[in-house]
Amino acid sequence: MEKLKIRANGALNGEITISGAKNAALPLLCASLLTRETLHLTNVPMLRDVKTTQKLLQGMGARVLTDNVHEFEINCSNINHTCAPYDLVKTMRASILVLGPTLAHFGEAQVSLPGGCAIGSRPVDQHLKGLEAMGADISIEHGYVKVRAQQLQGAHIVMDMVTVTGTENLLMAATLANGTTILENAAIEPEVTDLADCLVKMGANIQGIGTPTLTIQGVDKLHGCSHSVVPDRIEAGTFLCAVAMTGGKVVLKKAAPKTMQAVLEKLSEAGAIIEVGDDWIAIDMHQRPKAVDVRTLPYPAFPTDMQAQFMVMNAIATGSSKVVETIFENRFMHVPELNRMGAQISAEGNTAIIQGVEQLSGTTVMATDLRASASLVLAGLVASGETTIERIYHLDRGYENIEQKLGDVGAIIERVHDH
Ligand code: UD1
Repeated sequence: MEKLKIRANGALNGEITISGAKNAALPLLCASLLTRETLHLTNVPMLRDVKTTQKLLQGMGARVLTDNVHEFEINCSNINHTCAPYDLVKTMRASILVLGPTLAHFGEAQVSLPGGCAIGSRPVDQHLKGLEAMGADISIEHGYVKVRAQQLQGAHIVMDMVTVTGTENLLMAATLANGTTILENAAIEPEVTDLADCLVKMGANIQGIGTPTLTIQGVDKLHGCSHSVVPDRIEAGTFLCAVAMTGGKVVLKKAAPKTMQAVLEKLSEAGAIIEVGDDWIAIDMHQRPKAVDVRTLPYPAFPTDMQAQFMVMNAIATGSSKVVETIFENRFMHVPELNRMGAQISAEGNTAIIQGVEQLSGTTVMATDLRASASLVLAGLVASGETTIERIYHLDRGYENIEQKLGDVGAIIERVHDH
């Protein structure tokens, strides 16, 4: 088992290059199922979830023609298996993203039901409701959802809540449906927009990209294209929180500040001086952060994937704050671990009240989800003594070379192997 060992080392200074977004790369890889031609993706982050998606697609018969650092060429002309098995789905719930494109292109698909996960029950009813409206037969057998449709038909679908992967699944399915599909209350996260942009390059006819109403005119077939994955706004936001906590001046390169307005405003409110260009963000911090209230909501409001990182920043801030999580139930697993490090956080239901303290103290901690683990890394950067983070495979699902990127700007952070 690998661990991270971290020691506080004062302010962070320098430059960090931001990777492509995990949450864009995963649906983009799955979009390769929609065409017999080759999809060429660049700026792909080298992450465990990307590897899992690659494995999933290869298990279905996809050929990965190029697998360079940050670059994939993937061809799905030989798909001979339309099933996503439990052993992969249980490690990555985003596996559900093969459902829509596989059904649309091959007339059937089976995906193991994801089941519960650490941050809540995360059902897929909206994905299924939409596919059913498009004419799919759906059955649940032996823990698998099976969908079948000779030819999907366009439909008018109003989603009950904003769901990111739900929107992506239905959007992909609709590109090859017969007739027009209108998706209302669609997610407008930048990763959904990135997928839509790539689908258009592949020949899809989509109107309303970037708005909550997507109108998709189905086409007979899609073709290959080349596409660069959007920058990861959550990775960028995590490093900005790190600097807001340690102090210092760091420039993030290859970032997408336009997709991060809510987070950047909160960091300014916390006392950070933020400057942005088209593809860079500079943060300059010379004081203890001020506590800021946060409420998670769908894009463009404050993202749930930044909640844990702001919680830990608030934990060492001046003043007290309230963090409300409205997207996922049970997304406060970092709270008991941060409290073990000396934070003063009390959580009840979906609300946490944080009383800032001057100093956290290092110990051995672990977390059961990706962003919770990231918050523990941030805590380690300012805690006294040594912080050891266990179960870092969660971090490796979503952060590319986190120890190297933080090490490059002055953090003392080391990956160690247990024997
Ligand atoms: C995606 C992101 C994840 C992020 C989340 C919210 C990916 C791979 N993951 O997850 O990092 O935290 O968006 O921004 O892009 N829901 C239902 N029924 C459904 C679908 C969703 O009730 O059929 C509920 C969920 O339980 C949750 C809410 O809707 O409460 C939003 O979930 P959703 O946007 O679907 O999250 P994911 O797409 O799984």
